[in-house]
This record gives sequence, C-alpha cells and structure tokens, in this order.
Amino acid sequence: MTAKEKIEELRAELHRHNYNYYVLNTPEISDKEFDDKMRELQDLEQAHPEYKDDNSPTMRVGSDLNKNFTQVAHKYPMLSLGNTYSETEVADFYERVKKALNDDFEICCEMKYDGTSISLTYEDGKLIRAVTRGDGEKGDDVTDNVKTIRSIPLVLHGDNYPQSFEIRGEILMPWDVFEELNREREAREEPLFANPRNAASGTLKSQNSSVVASRKLDAYLYYLLGENLPCDGHYENLQEAAKWGFKISNAMQKCHTLEEIFDYIKYWDTERKNLTVATDGIVLKVNSLKQQKNLGFTAKSPRWAIAYKFQAERALTRLNMVTYQVGRTGTVTPVANLDPVQLSGTIVKRASLHNADIIEGLDLHIGDMVYVEKGGEIIPKITGVDTSARSFMIGEKVNFITNCPECGSKLVRYEGEAAHYCPNETACPPQIKGKIEHFISRRAMNIDGLGPETIDMFYRLGLIQNTADLYKLTAEDIKGLDRMGEKSAENIINGIAQSKEIPFERVIFALGIRFVGETVAKKIAKAFKNIEELEDADLETLVSIDEIGEKIAQSILNYFANESNRELVNRLKEAGLQLYRTEEDLSGHTDKLAGQSIVISGVFTHYSRDEYKDLIEKHGGKNVGSISAKTSFILAGENMGPAKLEKASKLGIRIMNEEEFLELIS
Ligand code: IVH
Repeated sequence: MTAKEKIEELRAELHRHNYNYYVLNTPEISDKEFDDKMRELQDLEQAHPEYKDDNSPTMRVGSDLNKNFTQVAHKYPMLSLGNTYSETEVADFYERVKKALNDDFEICCEMKYDGTSISLTYEDGKLIRAVTRGDGEKGDDVTDNVKTIRSIPLVLHGDNYPQSFEIRGEILMPWDVFEELNREREAREEPLFANPRNAASGTLKSQNSSVVASRKLDAYLYYLLGENLPCDGHYENLQEAAKWGFKISNAMQKCHTLEEIFDYIKYWDTERKNLTVATDGIVLKVNSLKQQKNLGFTAKSPRWAIAYKFQAERALTRLNMVTYQVGRTGTVTPVANLDPVQLSGTIVKRASLHNADIIEGLDLHIGDMVYVEKGGEIIPKITGVDTSARSFMIGEKVNFITNCPECGSKLVRYEGEAAHYCPNETACPPQIKGKIEHFISRRAMNIDGLGPETIDMFYRLGLIQNTADLYKLTAEDIKGLDRMGEKSAENIINGIAQSKEIPFERVIFALGIRFVGETVAKKIAKAFKNIEELEDADLETLVSIDEIGEKIAQSILNYFANESNRELVNRLKEAGLQLYRTEEDLSGHTDKLAGQSIVISGVFTHYSRDEYKDLIEKHGGKNVGSISAKTSFILAGENMGPAKLEKASKLGIRIMNEEEFLELIS
C-alpha cells in the first residue's frame, strides 16, 4: 500500500470511529486504538505534506495559532424565533397556521437547545465553513474551532447529499463537561461560567482552537437550507441528514393535533432533565417546506415556527444569614444561607450572592423572602426579593463585611473589580491552606496522597505553614497521625519527593500567583530562564510577553514585592524544585539573540508570525511590538507598513528578511 492509500484509509477509518463514538454513542474500538491510529495518521501526514487535507480527522486537535475571526455574510439571514411562555399562545399559533394554510398540515415538535447557534456550509460533502449567528446578517468565521467538535462531520457519508447546502444547529457544552470545567476553574480561582450556554459560546470564540478541542463541545443540527434538499418535509430532511453523519435529535416528533403538541410539551418538560445537554423550551415548526414558504417570514422571525419556553425553575424561601468565604487568593464571596427549599430536584440551602454590588442592588435584609433560581446554572442564585412579604419587623440590612471573617484584616477592593479581597496573603488560614491545596493539585505539583483534609490536619498540628514546609516533612513526622498508616505516610513523602521533577512551567503555576493560570505560566517559563529572572523583571519586560497584560504583570510584581513570597521561593529552590528551565525544556534554545529586541512586521512565507516569535524567544531574544531606538533589528516579511519602514530608516535600524533571519539562528 502506498503512503497515500494508507493515509486515505486511516482518514476514512477515523471519520467512521468519530461518528460511531460522538454521534451514535456506540464506539467500536477502544480509546487507545483510536489514539494509536490518529498518531499514525499524524505521522504520515507530517512525512507527506503533499497529501494535506483541511478536512482530515487530524484537524480536530486544533492549533495554538492565534486567530482573529473574519466576518462572513450569511447567504440566508439567521433569524430568531417568536417566543412564548404560554400554552394559550401555542394554541393561537396553531390556529393561525391552520387558518392561513387552509389545508392539512403537520407540526414538527423538537427541543429548543440552549447553546450557541452555528451555520455550517458543506460543498461536495465537505465542511467548508462554520459561521456564528453574529447579528443575523453576518457572523464570525469560526471554522477552525468548529472542526475540533467531534460530532460535526468534516466529510459526509453516502452520496445523496446536495452538492452545496447549509445546515444550522446549536453548539452545546454537555452538563458533565461544564461541571468539570467549572470545578477546575474554581480550583484555579478563575471566574466560573454561569451556565453551559456561556461556556459554549465563550469557548467557540476562543482564539486558540486547541482550547476548543479540549473543551469537548457537542452539536445538534436542526435546520437544513439549500436549493436541492431531498424531501419536502423538514423532519424527513433531517432524518436524511442523520444518514450523512449529522447529530440529529431523536426527540423530534411530528404532531397532527394541538393535543399531541401539548402531550409532547408535557412529556419533555420533565424528560429533558435526563438529556446530556441544556434545553430551555420546545420549538414547533410547520413540517412541509412548501407550506413554510407560503407562510413566510415577518421582519424578525418565521411565521411557520414558534418557541415555547419552559419556566425557569424558581423557589421562594427565607434568607437567614449571609456568610463569607475566603478563597486561596483572598477573594471574599458572600453566601446566602437559606431555609432549605426544593428546586429542580435538589434541596437548596445556600446560594451565591457574588459580590457587594449584587447585595446592594437587591437591597437585601435578613429574614427577607428571596427568589432562588437554578435555570441553567449549577450554583443557584438569588434573583429577587419579595418585598411584599416584609413585615413591620424588617430584619437588619445586609452590609458587606469590612474585615476578613477568618483573620480580621481590613478588606480591600481594587479599582474596576467587583470582588473584595483579604490582603493578608501569608497569614490568613484559608488562604494558606488554599495555596497549599492548589500547589499539590494534579495540574500543579501533582502530589499524590495529599488532599484537603490531610492538609488541614497538618496545618492544625503546626506541621506546615506554607508550601516549602512540605519538603521538610519526614515519614516519622506524619505516621501514626489520624488515619495515617506507615504505607500512606511513605506514599505522601514519596509523592512530595517526586514533585521535584515537575517542570518549571508547572512550578510557576503552582506558586498560585493571582491571575497566573496554566497558560500564562507556560508563557513565563518560555520567556524567563529561571525564577531569578522573573523576580527581577520589571513591568515593561512582563507586559512584552504574549498573554501578559498590565493586570497580570502587576500581580506578578506584587507577588515578588512581598518579602515572605521571595523567602518562600528561595526555600523551594533550596528544596530542589525546578525553578529553572532544564536541558529538556531548553532543547533547541540558544543565546544567539540574547539581549536583542526584535520587531516582527509583515507577512511571512516560511513560518507564521507566532512561530517567528517563538523562535526569537527560543534563541534568547525578545519580540517587541513597536520600533524604537532600542530595537536591534526588524524581521520583515512582505508588505511591511510604510510608517514602520520610514521610522526604521530614520533610526537606522536594520531590516532583515526571513532567509537572513533563519540563517542567523541556524
Ligand atoms: S430553528 C428560523 N430549532 O433558538 C428558525 N432553533 O430564537 C431557525 N434553537 O437562534 C431556528 N433549538 O439558536 C431552531 N430546534 C431548534 C432550536 C433552535 C434552539 C435556537 C437557535 C435560534 C434560536 C431562535
């Protein structure tokens, strides 16, 4: 078999396994076998760039290249649907349609998926474009991101699809993925996504398609558009589309009477809780495309369809108390403590109040009857107060606390931020414990055998005060403690010792500097050889690093301005942690561009701009944004702007082309 044949065979096979797994939910091979085949294909494609294919299954892993989305006009505008919460209005819709058509008709009932809408264009059986709704007339081209969504076919099955068509649907983040993502974000003290819809649309707009790939989005398609569709029925067309490889909901049903429609609504209002993705209503569509055409559109929405929205689930209960939680970076979160109340199948006792402004906006008083909603959110929230229930004995007004509930320090609020912080980073107990918990977590130092309870015990017993103390612990110190046998004690000590192998970028992340998440930590590890360089970096140097803006830079400066943090880092260094890049991290790195400030300008042919930026950094140089007297040279591609050219020649700065640059670093 030639390489070309093998590549084609693997592509076909992987497309099929993707479909089995993500659309049909019936995998035929193990994840391992799948990964092996994918790797084989990746290797072959790399060895044979001449057989490149934009719709290869390997395109689903995404790329790190930043992208600004281009706007694309929709061929058919993306309209919205008329909405109602009332069954009477559903009946009105039905009667209107009946009167206007004056003929038999079917209504296709389907779920209203609560995600972010997408329009996919296929030509000759291949996905060629994916565009967001935007303003309905034009949207963002998010094709690269959408290609990472495994349930969207890149290449269609069979051969009876129209040569060119659009299919529209909803991109969704399944509940379990959403919950896991928020758990991770909570651990990193990153802002949580309020609901799967926000998480899906935020993810889809990500500038980095490998982030999208990692977020495991799903997609249901519900609207086929084009000239030569196979059938006159909307329902029948979608059944065909299912055969081409699209994920089509199997909750669709054709109804012939109003009664059947209400039965459908009633059934799915409860049954939807068992679906893997969020829904917020039912969509009713006249099934025949001919009849749809007869009914036509108003300016905003089709006359042949309507959305019936489910009531958001809401409960009324009493507010007993507001307590405050202090997170690892000192963020103080107000929590409403409520009379227990049943809401969407769970008992709710606590709800987030987010921040001081929200409390103020609600004019909250202790003893108030408050509305709690769950909607698409996992964390219930208070959405209002029933002021009519306030008696003459109105309770005390809720005022946000001024001092930390844990250590008594005066709270601070930074300009432009909604949150209050406890500034006592090094001595406030939940911050200390939180920092240690973050430090040992899987994505940071990954120390096995240690969890929040053990950390809490060690802290209470005075065994550890900070992360560096972990490296002083011996098995003798901890064995015999509560539920700590010899074996677990040894496991913990071994785990701690092994963490000394964790690479620089993860150690930086583990330090728990506010706003320094994994991505930023990676950029830092790339930009600085060791922790000393980072400690000495000034604002200008920090903001010149990709992904680091003023806010993050300032937070890094604040961290190292604190003497106890410097001391801690020193102790971690003495303990043998990798607070520097190792040979392995450094492979391919040189000092050839050390001390040089380089401006990149124009369009390149050999490598992308980002790749040149990486190359500069790998060879010790610094990529800077604008030309100044300090600029060492300009790496220029085609079409460098005239203003830049003029400035460069005025300052006598050398302009180097791609070939010269590559020669320089080779
Ligand atoms: S049909 C012209 N079907 O709801 C009608 N829309 O306000 C095209 N949606 O933007 C839409 N589930 O994002 C249709 N089964 C479904 C849907 C659905 C969710 C969303 C879609 C649209 C919005 C309408």
